[in-house]
Amino acid sequence: MAGERFIIEGGRRLEGSVAVSGSKNASVAAIPAALLVPEDCYLENVPAIGDVKFMAQVLESLGGEAERTSPSTLRLNAAHITSFSPATELVVNLRASFLVMGALLARFGQAMCSPPGGDVIGQRPIDVHLAGFAAMGADIHRQGEKFVAQAKRLRGARIFMDYPSVLGTQNLMMAGTLARGTTVIINAASEPEIASLAEMLNNMGARIHGAGSHTVEIEGVDALHGARHRIIPDRIEAGTFAIAAAITGGDVRICQAEPAHLHSLVAKLKEVGVQVEEDGTDLRVRGTGQLGAVTIQALPYPGLATDLQAPMAALLTQAQGVSYIHERVFENRLLYVSELRKLGAEVVSTGTTAIISGPTPLIGTSVRALDIRAGAALVLAGLAARGKTEISDIYHLNRGYQCIDEKLRSLGADIQSA
Ligand code: EPU
Repeated sequence: MAGERFIIEGGRRLEGSVAVSGSKNASVAAIPAALLVPEDCYLENVPAIGDVKFMAQVLESLGGEAERTSPSTLRLNAAHITSFSPATELVVNLRASFLVMGALLARFGQAMCSPPGGDVIGQRPIDVHLAGFAAMGADIHRQGEKFVAQAKRLRGARIFMDYPSVLGTQNLMMAGTLARGTTVIINAASEPEIASLAEMLNNMGARIHGAGSHTVEIEGVDALHGARHRIIPDRIEAGTFAIAAAITGGDVRICQAEPAHLHSLVAKLKEVGVQVEEDGTDLRVRGTGQLGAVTIQALPYPGLATDLQAPMAALLTQAQGVSYIHERVFENRLLYVSELRKLGAEVVSTGTTAIISGPTPLIGTSVRALDIRAGAALVLAGLAARGKTEISDIYHLNRGYQCIDEKLRSLGADIQSA
């Protein structure tokens, strides 16, 4: 995906099998976890995508090392940390960079970070992260733009999170690993990426129980050690290929998809009229050509992932009837609606709800990827559109999908980068 644009000649039915890469969001959480120890940590199944590169640079800006020892293995080392404050020009690239706070605070008793960047999908506060650190005894203040957290040694606390934030839960879990005493996070996020990070931390000697549920308990230990950890499959990439099969009326086997992480999507696809079969860790998805309108709520896990609501919108332009999509996680994640309209979709947005009337024939034209998932929605729409769709700003897609064009081509899509 070297170019700046994707050019898709739509109308090809996708067929064959495709392998899912390692999870973006599990990877960007695992990289800062290496800051907790002075020894090597090895991550396996790490995707070659922009956000992983950015997160590795954040680690390096603190004096850490990040090196690919194989195409999908990353060696991380934080033995010689020289700074407790990652470079602001890196932090603005991705939201997960704020995870260095929990790890640095736990190991060194101090951390500083600018407000993190990330996709423009609504207000994205970090109050639950900071309230959690404060409950564990950290002094939190601002120094210019930056947040500063300091504590000689954090102490375990009972923390009620106002909102089950994914990165918030991960930050507090890392902070709790080396605290004195036990930390309990109530109303924790339960996304699979939380359980994946807890597994890595436990491999490093942490004592975390309940990750993946809404109550996570972290018994603090005195020291952690290096470890090897395998990143879970990317459930959003898997879901995107499932929708690609559905929207093209295709027949695709999605390998290493971990269907257990995709229950809500599979249920919704079946409700739309798509055939989905689970086969071990694979999913076989067949588009029947007869799709029906549905109502979708994008919710915290195990609800339908907000990261899949834009791709689902593309699919629902081809469903018979009126579909409603309610985005309940972020306040401004329907910006893709204007781009889908350019392709001929009948879709309107009223704040956090999109209303789609279908089916409408999509006709290729020039559109812009506004963020990672909005970009994925346009790729899917382009696959179904008549004629040529040109998508600009595909660097957004490069941040989160490993070789999406190559993978789609292997299934028969006509997609080129230019
Ligand atoms: N929120 C607060 N206070 C906080 C933190 C969050 O009110 O301190 C609110 C946010 O305003 C938002 C909601 O909580 O309305 C959800 O935010 P959350 O913190 O759970 O999201 P996140 O941790 O910033 C991660 C993923 C996102 C994914 C969301 C929801 C990573 C790096 N990012 O973000 O992924 O959409 O969880 O599942 O893990 C993506 O991959 O495209 C992406 C945006």
